[in-house]
Amino acid sequence: MPADVLASIEVVRATWRDVGALVKLDRRCFKPIDAYAWYEFLGLCLWPGVLALKALSEGRLVGFIAGDPRKQDGHTIIVTLAVDPKYQRGGIGERLLREVEARSTLPRLQLMVRKSNLPALHLYRKLNYAIVETWPHYYEDGEDAYVMEKTLTPNPLPIRERESRSGG
Ligand SMILES: CC(C)(COP(=O)(O)OP(=O)(O)OC[C@H]1O[C@@H](n2cnc3c(N)ncnc32)[C@H](O)[C@@H]1OP(=O)(O)O)[C@@H](O)C(=O)NCCC(=O)NCCS
Repeated sequence: MPADVLASIEVVRATWRDVGALVKLDRRCFKPIDAYAWYEFLGLCLWPGVLALKALSEGRLVGFIAGDPRKQDGHTIIVTLAVDPKYQRGGIGERLLREVEARSTLPRLQLMVRKSNLPALHLYRKLNYAIVETWPHYYEDGEDAYVMEKTLTPNPLPIRERESRSGG
């Protein structure tokens, strides 16, 4: 991906209208065993409180992240994160994760990742996520999951101002 593309990437909320494109993106990014169904994307886009954000390059959907706030647990779960293979290694994944962190109203972020998913593990470590647990055989094919967490430092800006600064 050319270096100047990241600057032109727009991150905005995804809606039900994006479901078809989200399914296609998911198919390009994940093996069938890890793919989500269309109705799961619909749920993520419609469920109140879920931070469903898409990355657009010249109007084309090139990335997606969903953060599900679990108030009772005090953390937001990163349900999924994907960047179109043609646009990977250009900073979009990091940008999407930082956007969810900036908009999160809960003090911690949590996610699950395959032990073998080195690109994702590198990204999470870069952004200071720490492995807090291993869940053996978590995935359908028997692979273990790492549970990773990050505690956010308090943001001094009110949420409304944060939202308007991050454009959504
Ligand atoms: C994981 C994923 C979202 C990363 O998105 P991306 O846009 O390519 O990542 P970025 O360009 O923002 O990279 C940010 C950092 O992540 C790490 N990273 C990303 N891809 C990497 C790779 N292939 N190898 C090593 N480190 C990598 C690096 O630390 C990088 O920082 P750097 O560029 O300063 O070295 C992307 O690879 C993807 O969609 N993978 C398939 C779906 C998936 O596995 N999602 C995560 C499920 S838990």
